[in-house]
Amino acid sequence: MSKVSMAVDLGGIKMKNPVNTASGTFGYGWQYQNFFDVSCLGAITTKGCAAEPWPGNPKPRMTEVYGGMMNSVGLQNPGVHAFAAESGPWLEELSSKGTQVICQVAGHSTAEYVAALELFDELCPWAAGFELNVSCPNIAAGGAACGSTPEGAAEVMRACRPVTKKPLLVKMAPVRLPEIARALEAEGADGLTVINSIPGMAIDVHTRRSKISKPTGGLSGPLLHPIAVRMVWEVANAVDIPVCGVGGIMTGEDAAEFILAGATAVSVGMASFAEPDAAARILSELTAWAEEQGVNDINELIGALEC
Ligand SMILES: Cc1cc2nc3c(=O)[nH]c(=O)nc-3n(C[C@H](O)[C@H](O)[C@H](O)COP(=O)(O)O)c2cc1C
Repeated sequence: MSKVSMAVDLGGIKMKNPVNTASGTFGYGWQYQNFFDVSCLGAITTKGCAAEPWPGNPKPRMTEVYGGMMNSVGLQNPGVHAFAAESGPWLEELSSKGTQVICQVAGHSTAEYVAALELFDELCPWAAGFELNVSCPNIAAGGAACGSTPEGAAEVMRACRPVTKKPLLVKMAPVRLPEIARALEAEGADGLTVINSIPGMAIDVHTRRSKISKPTGGLSGPLLHPIAVRMVWEVANAVDIPVCGVGGIMTGEDAAEFILAGATAVSVGMASFAEPDAAARILSELTAWAEEQGVNDINELIGALEC
């Protein structure tokens, strides 16, 4: 048992420790059950799910790049009905062990976010809260992500806020962060997850084709970490609601940087692909760091950057 209290409150989601998993990199949780005891984590965030099933993009959808990877999975998902039926019992048991389950909500338009969130709220009573992924391309808005402007992000939040009484987080695209964060806070967001993957390109020069089936994809991994820490710091200084830091966390020290920059919680992403129990190791390293800092409570270290 650690001497430091590791419990944090992510916008009403009471976590026994700050370690969460990043949406899309941890399946629906049960895929990792044979690798480690997932109930050691403060929370898990499930892969984005829409009201109806989405097939995702054609393969190949992933490629390695220096310092990380690039993907164009395209939010493949089975739809909320199938998600709740197939994964709900395992997730309900996980939540009974004190690991909070945050369900990520996907949509192409405001109406689709509302439809998905209504289903989640009805079919997933065990969920501690929901995360709106406003980084998907919005067909109605000509292919731009709904969350890439303050107006677009605010519109989605305004429509979704009355749908659930549970905490609503928003996963932010890495653009115009402080102003979009303020717009989301004004519309009642309980917390912000910063950041989603950053668009990139990787070209096979022999075939002259993209290494994935789309020209661009989302970059993840250690190459993002310093950028993500800076963005978390900017958002944490712009709003009063809590921030969950995501991007390139491979060690407890990487997670600690987010906490010092102002994050209340952290999400482990693609590290879980290379090392399925990475989140458990990162939790024990983060705890050891908090002990070494000589505090009684991890909350004393949130935003404790000195410069
Ligand atoms: C294969 C893959 C699938 C992803 N799917 C989602 C998703 O469904 N929703 C989402 O918000 N982010 C998704 N992400 C982005 C991650 O949640 C995370 O924001 C990003 O990978 C940066 O963290 P990392 O560098 O620790 O992986 C995905 C990332 C990867 C690599």
